[in-house]
Amino acid sequence: MDTDPGSSSRRRWLLHSLQASFAATVAAICYPVLRFLRPRPATVSGAMEVVAPFRVNQLPNAPGNPFNFGGKPCLVVLTPEGEKRLARGERLQPGDIRAFNAICTHMDCTVHYRPDHGDIFCSCHNGVYDLNGHNVSGPPPRPLETYKVTLRGSPGQEEIVVSRTS
Ligand code: FES
Repeated sequence: MDTDPGSSSRRRWLLHSLQASFAATVAAICYPVLRFLRPRPATVSGAMEVVAPFRVNQLPNAPGNPFNFGGKPCLVVLTPEGEKRLARGERLQPGDIRAFNAICTHMDCTVHYRPDHGDIFCSCHNGVYDLNGHNVSGPPPRPLETYKVTLRGSPGQEEIVVSRTS
């Protein structure tokens, strides 16, 4: 039988220390997992209307795409249908060129267009969006914000005017 009062208080102190370090370990494991899974609030651009720093005939691999749209990156996509029309020298149709807030809705990485896959890709955690901006696989919890596109100028060399829809 232990009659030393100091030994009992040491045992209590040791037990509290073990409990505290266990709680800290659980928190250190859970916090990044919860942060990874938790949907983030939308990151919205402050701009209303911006002319892209490239023209239609420079797409799909225009330098400077995504470009700065009121402090947020804006990605302009020439759809495969639009690319065919452009190659045939035809006038583009509404929807052939699309624009999106290029910030991934998962954890704010910048997304890119992958013409070879026909999708929009986030390389941070392999998030995939379709060409309507809908999240189709991987962790992104929401679609990309879409912008309105207006073309100005002579066919094939139009300026691309991007504006917010709301
Ligand atoms: S930031 Fe995680 S998939 Fe884009």
